[in-house]
Amino acid sequence: NWTMANFIDTEISRIRTLVGPTAEVIGAVSGGVDSTVAAKLLSIAIGERFHAIYVDNGVMRKNETETVHKTLTEGLGINLTVVDASEEFLGKLKGVTDPEKKRKIIGNTFIEVFERQAALIQPKSGEEIEFLLQGTLYPDVIESISFKGPSHTIKTHHNVGGLLDDMKLKLIEPLRELFKDEVRALGEIMEIPHDLVWRHPFPGPGLAIRVLGEVTPAQVKIAREADFIFIEEIKKAGLYREISQAFAALLPVKSVGVMGDQRTYEQVIALRAIETTDFMTADWFVFEASFLKRVASRIVNEVDGVARVTYDITSKPPATVEWE
Ligand code: XMP
Repeated sequence: NWTMANFIDTEISRIRTLVGPTAEVIGAVSGGVDSTVAAKLLSIAIGERFHAIYVDNGVMRKNETETVHKTLTEGLGINLTVVDASEEFLGKLKGVTDPEKKRKIIGNTFIEVFERQAALIQPKSGEEIEFLLQGTLYPDVIESISFKGPSHTIKTHHNVGGLLDDMKLKLIEPLRELFKDEVRALGEIMEIPHDLVWRHPFPGPGLAIRVLGEVTPAQVKIAREADFIFIEEIKKAGLYREISQAFAALLPVKSVGVMGDQRTYEQVIALRAIETTDFMTADWFVFEASFLKRVASRIVNEVDGVARVTYDITSKPPATVEWE
């Protein structure tokens, strides 16, 4: 008789048996529901012998790093190290405009930073780190088995396969038999905050693929502020759970506007909001006109450097969810 509550018990004893009484485990957390639920399970199972690492890559959303730190340590009691590698990532992204290059740089830099941090961890037990935690879900398992075709290479998704090879770690994947809604149910039972449990997915390359063209700190700031306003208004309107994913992208073009009696010549924000069940196909979300009006006026008035706001009315296919 399979229930969430006994899934937790079974999984915890399975983890304890697998890891044994002394070995140490490391794992990356992103602030998303999968890695948080996985980290919480490990922390219940083996306490301080689980080491969570969060890497700030400089292209996270507004307040992200602070929120993750507070929620995971104070809220969930997870043994967490936050690494601020913003300058390293942004330095390597300088001058790069190609979306796939951005993905590769961020993926590779992530592995370097993670490995460097892992080497600094000195377990109290004196044991080596032997395992790597991954929040892989059932659909990811299926996809990696069945998709060998071109659909898999439309966009290179971030993965940490390199870590396993370089560090000779064994993998722990406590969520590998679960679907997203089951992970969310688990999150609720384990008292992970609602906001985190119901959070929209956020891509590994972060705002770097939502700042079209070159990623500079100034551009990231514009995209970050605009995104924050859009999401804030979506939550206020009670629409967050109806929408599968929403964000603001900063376009690499300038457009003429007028503020007071001044002519302006500044950048353009594209808002994107979609409904989907599997992210393979998606429909754009139909907002009330008054909602879009409010968001556009807030963004132009509150975010320096934006002269115009547009709403993306393209479905997937032919468009992808992200702009890059
Ligand atoms: P696309 O743009 O491919 O997005 O229609 C489908 C879903 O995947 C997310 N996405 C990514 N996630 N690394 C990730 O971890 C990536 O490089 C990446 N590219 C897209 C996207 O946010 C959406 O949820």
